[in-house]
Formats: sequence, C-alpha cells, structure tokens
Amino acid sequence: MTPGLERAKARVDELRAQIAHHDHRYHVLDAPEISDADYDKLFQELVKLEREHPELVTADSPTQKVGGAPSQLFAPVRHSQRLLSLDNVFDDESLDDWWGRVVKGLGREPALVCEPKIDGLSVAVVYEKGRLTRGATRGDGAVGEDVTQNVATLRTLPHRLAAKGKELPTWLEVRGEVFLFKKDFADINAKLDEAGKATFSNPRNAAAGALRQKDAGITRERPLAIYLHGLVRSDGVGFKRYSEALLYLSSIGLPVHPLSATVEGLDAVKAFVRDMRDKRHTLDHEIDGVVIKVDEIGAQEELGSTAKAPRWAVAYKLPPEQATTTLRDIQVSIGRSGVATPFAMLEPVFVGGVTIQTATLHNEDEVARKGVLIGDTVIVQRAGDVIPEVVGPVVERRTGAERPFVMPSACPVCASELVRHPGESARRCENLECPAQTWGRIVHFASRGAMDIEHLGEVTSRELIDLGLVKDPGDIFDLDAEKIGRLPNFKAKSIQNLLAAIDGARSRPLDKLLVALGIRHVGVTAAQALASHFGSIGAIAAASVEELTQTEGMGETIARSVHEYFRRPATAELLEKLRQGGVALDVVKQKATGHLSGMTFVITGTLESMSREKAQEALEERGGKVTSSVSKKTSYVIVGAEPGSKYDKAQKLGVPILDEAGFLMLLEG
Ligand code: IVH
Repeated sequence: MTPGLERAKARVDELRAQIAHHDHRYHVLDAPEISDADYDKLFQELVKLEREHPELVTADSPTQKVGGAPSQLFAPVRHSQRLLSLDNVFDDESLDDWWGRVVKGLGREPALVCEPKIDGLSVAVVYEKGRLTRGATRGDGAVGEDVTQNVATLRTLPHRLAAKGKELPTWLEVRGEVFLFKKDFADINAKLDEAGKATFSNPRNAAAGALRQKDAGITRERPLAIYLHGLVRSDGVGFKRYSEALLYLSSIGLPVHPLSATVEGLDAVKAFVRDMRDKRHTLDHEIDGVVIKVDEIGAQEELGSTAKAPRWAVAYKLPPEQATTTLRDIQVSIGRSGVATPFAMLEPVFVGGVTIQTATLHNEDEVARKGVLIGDTVIVQRAGDVIPEVVGPVVERRTGAERPFVMPSACPVCASELVRHPGESARRCENLECPAQTWGRIVHFASRGAMDIEHLGEVTSRELIDLGLVKDPGDIFDLDAEKIGRLPNFKAKSIQNLLAAIDGARSRPLDKLLVALGIRHVGVTAAQALASHFGSIGAIAAASVEELTQTEGMGETIARSVHEYFRRPATAELLEKLRQGGVALDVVKQKATGHLSGMTFVITGTLESMSREKAQEALEERGGKVTSSVSKKTSYVIVGAEPGSKYDKAQKLGVPILDEAGFLMLLEG
C-alpha cells in the first residue's frame, strides 16, 4: 500500500465506524447525537474517498447499504422488496450529472415527477382485500419492524380502502413517509415542556419516538401523519406511470402529497426546487428537499437500482436548518429597551445557508429550561428569516468539563443593576442613558423597516454616540457636514450621502416613524393601524387608553404601552427635537388610495427585475393586495419565468395574465 492509500484507508475505517455509531443512534435508539447535515458530511466524505480509491469499497460499507438494523423491540418483518434510500444532490451541477446519466441510460428525456421530501420515517403498509393488515418500519431495508398497531393510529390512513364500486387489489403494498405537522410538533413539545420533560429537537425525532412506541395508546396521542410516495405491489391493477399510481391511490382514499407534480425537462425541475425553497417556511410540515423521480415505470425498470438507491430517482437536498456545534461561551447583550439577552458564542457552523457564530438564548429561564452548559455540544437552528437559536444540548457528548451559565447581576455595558420585575422573564438595565440602549435605539430608528436611513448602520451609529454627537434619535436631524466630518472615514462624498439619507427620512410616513420610535408592543401592523386611525403623532399622544383601543386590532396591552410611552417626559423632548429637526409628524400613508386599490394579484414564477417580496411591496404601496392562490376574484396573475401551477389555474379560470413587462407598466399606472 502506498502511504496515500494507507492514509485514505485509515480515514475510511474511521468514517465507517463513526457512521455505524450514528446509524445506531438514529435508527435503533431514536436519539441522534449529530445533525443530519453533519451526518451527510461524514457520508459524503466517505463516498468521495471510496470513489477516489475504489479498492477500499467493501460490501458492508455504509455506502452500500440502507439504514440501520431493526431493534429487538418489535417483531421482524421481511419486506417483499428492499426499501431503498435515495442518492442526494446538493446543487444544480450534480442534478445535471444525475440527469445526464438518466438520459444516457434511456437514450431519451423521460417525464419526471417532483415532490417535497419530508424528513420523516419510511414505512411499508399492506392492504389485503382493502383492509389494512400491516405496517412496518424500514429497518435495514430488507427486514423492518412490525409496527402495525402504531401505523393503525395514523388518522389519515384508512383502515379500509374506499372501493366506490371498483375492484380493489387483492394485495396492495405501498410506502410512505410518517411525519408530524409543525403545529402538532409544537403542541407535543409545549405539553412536554409544561410537564417539565425534555422536548424533541425536531419533528422527525418526535415522530420516530411516537412510531416506535410499545404502547400504541401513546402513539395515538401523537397525531402522526403520512404521505405515500411509492407503490410496490398492486395485484389486479397495473400502472404505466408513477403519477397515475398516485392518482389511483388518492382515489381509493390514501393520502398522497398535494404538491406532487409531473414536470417536463430539467429547467422545470429546478423551478420546482426553487419554489419549494421559497415556500419552505409557509408549508405546514418541514421539508428537507425535493425528490425527483422518472415517471414511467418501464423507464424506472430499465434504469434499475444500485444496492442502496434507485438510479431513476434522486433527492435534491435543501440547506440544512439544524446543525451541531460547540457552545464556547454565553454572553449577555443589552437591547434598545434595556432587556438583557443571553446569547451563545458558537464555534462557527454552516446552517440555514449561512455560517453563524452567535445564536440567541432568549432569557435566563430559557437557558435553564434548555439545560445548556458552557462547553456543551449543542443543536442550533436557523429557519428562514428567524434569528438563529440554540435548540438544546447533546447530553451524550458531555465530558464533565462543561460549566453552568450564571446571569450577571450588573449591566455588562454601564454596570448599573440588572433588575428583574416580578412576573417578567427578562432582566433589564434601567439606565436610560446606557450606551448600549442608546445604540440599539439609534440602529433601530435608522433601520430598513423604520426610518430607513441609508449609511447610518451599526458602526456609524456607534461612532456618533462615542463622539457624543447623538444621544437620542432626535439628534440625528441636528447633524451637519461639520459634525459628520469628525467621524473616521467620512469624506465629502460620504458626508453628502449621509446628509441626503437623513433628509429623505424627514418625510417618512407616520407608520414608519411609529415603528422607529420603538414603542413596546408596537410592530408594523399596530403602527399602520394607529397611523391611519389617528393621522398624526399629536392625536395619538393625546388619546386616552380607551380611545386607543378603538383602533382596529388594538388590544389593551398595546394601548396601555402606547399611552404610557407618550406620558414620558423623555418622549415629549424627543418629539420636540424631531419637530425642530424638520421631521413630518402627521403624514398618513396613502395606502388604500393608490391606483391599484381594490385589486388583488397573484405572482407566479421568477421575475427578472425584482424579487417576489419587492414585487409584492410595490403592488401594496399602490393599494393592491397580493394573495397566494388564484380565484375568479383575482384581478391579475403576474407571470414570471417558469411559472407554477397558478399559471394553469389562471388560464382555466380566465383570469387576466400579465407578463413582466405588463406588470411594470401597471406599476407605473
Ligand atoms: S422515494 C425508492 N419519495 O427520504 C425510492 N422518499 O433520503 C425511495 N422520503 O427513504 C424513496 N419523501 O424515507 C421518496 N417523496 C418521497 C420522499 C421520500 C421523503 C424519504 C424516504 C427515503 C428517504 C431517502
């Protein structure tokens, strides 16, 4: 053996041992120690090494087999056909490679089916003469566990199929994915939390725990769901296409994924993947990718399978939203309202499509509730736009060197006492002049969703405060070229830019100003309601709590908070400074009266000139409303490149369709 090969072999052995260990934790004990993403990384490294050194491939390598061994808890069930896994791709290039192999194998481009990939548990389900007779887990692919009693608790899986006069197959064997809807997962965790028990870090672990309960009564309390994604055997009924089989399964009462779709060509597949990436957080269950399958069953057979996965299907994985990393330290930051928030300093880790090194821990009770110790291996999560958070510790990884976090009693910035009022979970720095608070207020005031002052970000705000030029947001409008010129790095051009941006903020609509003030409990919605109800800051400031509650959607809590805010002497001072600084205090946003008011729009496909969010904003600014589904009442469907099914629906219903050019003209009126 060459030294290179020897090194590769040592690493391959190490990877196989690690993968075997994690397979056991995941498949048999339902207690994974690392995230799927970290597991994928180990696995991909092994795949790569074996590809570079084919002589190292062995029959028992994890790359050659599926899943883990069945546990001893349930009776073993031999599957009539192995339950295979799927090969993964993580980007368009590898998808192209897969497609290349398919097209080469068949000598033509076959039609495809795309469907969301749910990260749940594979099961095999058998109906004999229309009656549910067996449910089994995947196990090692060949032999699974008999979980019929538990599968029978799945509410959407009928015990008897709907024949509706048709002949039912004498033997029907289907496969599907058992999972939990997000809402049910949250309910389960809330109940566990209330009972003081450890919560599940994600829906998959919760579903796995429920499916493999010895007591089906417990499974019943966990509302598991299932979507079918495979037909193995259907005696007496035959299909040419997978999509046909899905329609049939649905017609006899079996649950198939509503977003499963047939597509032609790889561009349409990529559009489907993009669409799922966008929709990911609005779906009622979590997805970890898209599964792409050759539709024609004859073509599937022609392509065949490897020992582990079919060649006719592939999983396009979306970026993982959970990962494990080391919690280096817990520090405390002071927000604009003085709230002290503990946050995690992490070993940098790639999650949710970005590298993170900090994550919030909310408050001291949360740190205790999650049971994380400094030095722990932790699971972190970053889902969409939600700020990264620590889910919990991986207790098995503890070495004994971890230590508990103690909430400081003094503000880390101004050293005044951190006070916790009875009934509140937060500790606060009550020094209104605390530089951390001033900074937070300025940064918030100037931010995008508030007064939107470009060039006044975190760094510049800090410098202005440090030089004593700005003590509250009102001082921003007293800045001039001379003052700004004192900041490091500000030259003639950048001074002009900042001054112009500040000037632009003088005429922001009232709702933006209300958001910018950072009144407790007042977010975008409440600010818009207040602005359109009262029309000026003066009127809001003068209103009683009672009058404030007359505003649409305004409850007691918000009304009280607004009332209290405008009774503070500091508020009066700030408003006076803003007035003198030329800031408009009583403009009402001309929202509902734009030229598109009363019209509803649906956007589908990718627009070239702007993102969907921007397009929505542009329509709303002009009074239009944007909804997600097409109906007869829709005024226009705006169609970008590679539109989805909404386009077809619009054509069916005869709803007017606008292409991008038409849309831009409409915006201009
Ligand atoms: S088809 C022979 N379709 O993902 C093809 N699997 O990572 C095997 N999964 O073992 C599976 N959604 O448990 C298929 N729409 C879907 C799926 C899906 C989730 C799971 C399944 C599979 C695993 C592979």
